[in-house]
Amino acid sequence: MMAERPQIYHCLNSRQFSRPFVEEACRLADMARMIGKTKAGMEFLSTVFNDKRAMLFFTQPSTRTFLSFFSACQILGMHCAEVRDSRTSSEVKGESEEDTLRTFSSFFDLIIMRHYEAGLAETIAALLDQTERPVPVINAGSGKDQHPTQALLDIYTLKRCFQAQGGIDGKCIAFVGDLLRGRTIRSLSLLLSKYDDVKMVFVAPSAFQAGRDILSSLEEEGVSYQLEEDFESVIPRVDAIYMTRLQDEWDKEGHASSTIDMNRYSFQARHLALLRPHAVLLHPLPRRQEIAPEVDGDPRAVYWRQVRNGMWIRVALIALIFQRQERIIEYFQQADRRER
Ligand code: NCD
Repeated sequence: MMAERPQIYHCLNSRQFSRPFVEEACRLADMARMIGKTKAGMEFLSTVFNDKRAMLFFTQPSTRTFLSFFSACQILGMHCAEVRDSRTSSEVKGESEEDTLRTFSSFFDLIIMRHYEAGLAETIAALLDQTERPVPVINAGSGKDQHPTQALLDIYTLKRCFQAQGGIDGKCIAFVGDLLRGRTIRSLSLLLSKYDDVKMVFVAPSAFQAGRDILSSLEEEGVSYQLEEDFESVIPRVDAIYMTRLQDEWDKEGHASSTIDMNRYSFQARHLALLRPHAVLLHPLPRRQEIAPEVDGDPRAVYWRQVRNGMWIRVALIALIFQRQERIIEYFQQADRRER
């Protein structure tokens, strides 16, 4: 008989996350980071996965997501190997990506992958499910399409920021920049639609406005949204602003970014005065000129906290995929009791 699968086995798309799953992941991330504050706690965490190994297959550029997963695995004691350039793999000998990834599944217990091709992670997950040694696949960014773990860390950050304001329900969130080609805004807006009464404002020049697929999904979920071109007028009326960069690596597909003025979609120091006192400013990073560095010191600028939160939510996600969360919860409760 096949063992019953946990709520998330492959992590491919932010639509997969139910709200209870997100809540559980956030609670677990909080526990793991509390445990990680002591040497004994870090030593404990490093035993939770010291029998498992992960392959990080990142053939599209990455700094944060790669290091975040690498660090999460390291914290849990999971050994990691990496391929970051397909020119160093047998793909140059003409091997298909499917065969390359199937090879990884023969050696490793988890595949974390970032790729230019939308949908490849789904294809690989389905393929591995048919093999004698299926292993979970985590999508760490797929083309212009999805970035589910970024959406998880963004939600985790918003939850922590809005703790004293009743959480994410009822909040108004603005997405700014190249919304057409950014995968982070697709993953996050779809996940946010699972919260009650969330409003969204998509702020972009018309050439880079959010795609019909996103808007139709939000309509299906009954989410109220607005499309805007004027960024400054939006700043004072929202609870969170999610800035994104121009995704000009996709220009070869027909959009000439250089003809569009993106300077108006940039958060400058003078904009801080327009931002509500409790509002927060997020960015998945890397940034270019969308947020002036002088803004970094303001307590409402939370993009560096997002980076740190990403590591802990990925620790939680890995534990949940392998259904090892109980070990972390038990340790947390025992440590809590010892302290009291
Ligand atoms: C994002 C991505 O790769 O989609 N970066 C990240 O993972 N934090 C955003 C981007 O590259 O613009």
